[in-house]
Amino acid sequence: MKKNNDLPERELTLQRIEAAKRKLGKDLLILAHFYQGDDIIRFADFVGDSLQLAEKASLHKEARYIVFCSVSFMAETARMLCAPGQEVLHPEPNARCPLADMAAIEGVEEVWKDLQTLNRKIIPVVYVNSNADLKAFCARHGGTVCTSSNVKKIFNHVLSQGASIFFFPDENMGRNVSHDLGLKDDEIFLWDPEKGLTGAGNTSPEKAKVFLWEGFCIVHRIMGRREIESLRSRYEGIKIIVHPECTPEVYNLADYAGSTSYIKNMVDTSAPGSTWAIGTEWNFVNRIKTGNPDKLVIPLKEERCKEMAKVTPKKLLYVLEGLVEGELRNKVTVGEGIAGEARIALKRMMEIV
Ligand code: 13P
Ligand code: SF4
Repeated sequence: MKKNNDLPERELTLQRIEAAKRKLGKDLLILAHFYQGDDIIRFADFVGDSLQLAEKASLHKEARYIVFCSVSFMAETARMLCAPGQEVLHPEPNARCPLADMAAIEGVEEVWKDLQTLNRKIIPVVYVNSNADLKAFCARHGGTVCTSSNVKKIFNHVLSQGASIFFFPDENMGRNVSHDLGLKDDEIFLWDPEKGLTGAGNTSPEKAKVFLWEGFCIVHRIMGRREIESLRSRYEGIKIIVHPECTPEVYNLADYAGSTSYIKNMVDTSAPGSTWAIGTEWNFVNRIKTGNPDKLVIPLKEERCKEMAKVTPKKLLYVLEGLVEGELRNKVTVGEGIAGEARIALKRMMEIV
């Protein structure tokens, strides 16, 4: 019953978005992350991973308005990288990445102060899934930003200077990449706020090459060994591909790991008839499945990112119709002091990769 009532409203909303988009023409650029739902993706001018979206925002100077469909840190990043005359709008400012919110500047500064007592060269690296003040912190201390698609390059770049890394907020990604670069667990120090430099079990802070913050993505952490083993026993020759925010156990059991665009590209270009299990957000996995009817594509787990899903067609419509009426609704702002510094860290990343 409810479904029938919903249908005309949904269609009406989609039609109104289409009409507003047409009116705004070249003034408007809609960017969407791969994890957005299909009713958002259909209106996007560009869909990509976090690095691709940041690059698009920094290069596309023609549009007066960038409407960013994703979680807030990506819209903030676009704001910091686009031209001053452009406006960035976020259909749902309360769509926030919980991983990004797991590190606050006060805590990071405290750890940094303690790390200075080691008298070693340590460079901070912040995952792009973070708030702007942490990116600014990295800029102030000679550090940089990374995304899932360039984290290995960035870690390598820092380690090759003979420096250690202070990485936040995603422990799993930090550990997975450190292992890829040949580091052992006793060279990786997990910061415990209770114990400080005396914590981390067998790892001595003097020996550590990487210091990690204890943050995680709730969507990826939930994917486990059990799902992989069950799929491997049911589908002969299945390839498992996961996002690096998964736990080291899952990362090690998988055949491939990488950013959302890497995952999409791997499956899209694989041989017809191949079988894949994908360990990342379910909306995105479903879209890859639809785009590859000649392959068998299975989600490792049917897990949605609830924050990404907060961006709905109705909220997109609200922002677009505001623009048609000359109103800036849900405008993204970042204080110029923070933005200026954070931009330095983002630009450093772009220069390294
Ligand atoms: P990508 O940069 O790989 O798109 O990842 C963003 C993200 O939030 C993954 O959970
Ligand atoms: Fe954040 Fe995880 Fe959602 Fe990505 S999937 S936006 S890391 S909560």
